[in-house]
Order: sequence, then C-alpha cells, then structure tokens
Amino acid sequence: MKNLFIALEGIDGSGKSTQTKLLAQKLANAGHNVYTTFEPTDGMIGAVLRNILKGNIKADHRTIAGLFLADRLDHLLNEETGLVKKMKEGYTVITDRYYFSSYAYHGTHMDMDWVIAANKMCAQILKPDVNLFIDVTPTTAMRRINTNRTSTELFENRESLEAIREKYFEAFTKLKHEESIFITNGDRSEEMVADELWTKVSTLL
Ligand code: ADP
Ligand code: TYD
Repeated sequence: MKNLFIALEGIDGSGKSTQTKLLAQKLANAGHNVYTTFEPTDGMIGAVLRNILKGNIKADHRTIAGLFLADRLDHLLNEETGLVKKMKEGYTVITDRYYFSSYAYHGTHMDMDWVIAANKMCAQILKPDVNLFIDVTPTTAMRRINTNRTSTELFENRESLEAIREKYFEAFTKLKHEESIFITNGDRSEEMVADELWTKVSTLL
C-alpha cells in the first residue's frame, strides 16, 4: 500500500484541524498507518512563531517568513520526528498547513515569488500527493474564530483573511502545473466536507 503525504490548507478557522482528524480516521480504516502533524510545529522554532503570532514578540514579516521556512525544514529533516523519516517508515502523513500557507500568508506582505523560491528545497524534499484547500468565506472563518475564544492572533481579522484567501488562489494559479491542488467548499457541514475530501483522497490510494 502506497503511503501518502497530504497537506491541508485554508485560512484560519476554515476547519483544517477538524478535517485532518476526520481524514486520518478514514485513512486508518482503509489500513494506513497515519501520522498527523501541523505547522507551526511544536518544536523550538514553532514555539518562537507562536509567541510572534500571539503578539508577545514583534518581528518584521520577512523575518517571520524566514522563521516559518526554518520551522518547515526542521519539520521535514528532524532526525527523530522529521517527516522524511516518517515517510520512510511507511506512514501516511497528513499535515495541517505546509508551504502554500507561506505563499498565501507571507505573499500578502512581500513578493510571493521570493517565498516560493525560498521554499523550493521543501518541495524537492517532500511534495504533497495532494494539497487540499478548504475554502471558506472570511465571514464564516471569523464567526468560527470568535466562538470559544478570548483572544485573536496576528492574521485573525477579516481584512487579512480576505487578502490571504486571494493570495492562496494566486499561488494555486502560479503552481497549477507543478502541484496537485484540490479545492472544496468549506462553508458546509463537517461531514459534507469530509466526504468530498475522502472522495478525492480515495482516488490516490
Ligand atoms: P482551523 O484548524 O482551520 O483553524 P478548526 O478545525 O479548528 O479550523 O475549526 C474552527 C472552528 O470551527 C472549531 O470550533 C470547529 O469546531 C468549527 N468547525 C470546523 N468545521 C466546521 C464546519 N464545517 N461547520 C461548522 N463549524 C465548523
Ligand atoms: P494555525 O495554528 O494552523 O492556526 P489556525 O488553526 O487558526 O488556522 O496557524 C497559525 C498561524 O500561522 C495562522 O495564522 C497561519 C500562520 N502561518 C503563516 O503565516 N505562515 C506559514 O508558513 C504557516 C504554516 C502558518
């Protein structure tokens, strides 16, 4: 059985972590050993990033883009927990965010082509079998973010999410010949989104 590398993408509040869990269950039922993971990671660089996102540390957007790249390389190459190792061990890996997040989030503040070029190494090391984009309107995303939350992070406002969503589509157009991209309407029930994602992933098994 071929193990897959799947990236979940979308603006904050789009339902990525919810769908990561649902997809992991379905893949496990189909007999895969599944490893779920996320970016920013829970490693040392991820910890710095979370402090920046919370507003505890200030940094220029170019610095933030560099840190996300460093975090991603550690995510791939870490000798103990790295995804290259997990793939070699036969796990099907689902990551909640990967390099398209960088293209969209940093592309709003700097030249997207630079971000894509800087991440080329990651694409060479491990390219997703499919990038699953959960498309929600920023209105839906903000409603979900504001439920059960007392504080919001760096990008969690309507204007930013609007711009980031557009940058995602710009990146998908730029990379349509190099990347496998599947877009689903995330403004629907969790089950409907999960079913559509599963229909797509089933074709890769
Ligand atoms: P993300 O990881 O993209 O930020 P989450 O999966 O954490 O998103 O979802 C954000 C919030 O929205 C959570 O409270 C979650 O329960 C809820 N949610 C997720 N998917 C849906 C959906 N399809 N319909 C309604 N609410 C949802
Ligand atoms: P995440 O924890 O996935 O937040 P959420 O569950 O709310 O979507 O991601 C944290 C933030 O990091 C999110 O606002 C997107 C941002 N981000 C970047 O700016 N660049 C990146 O390369 C990645 C992976 C995430």
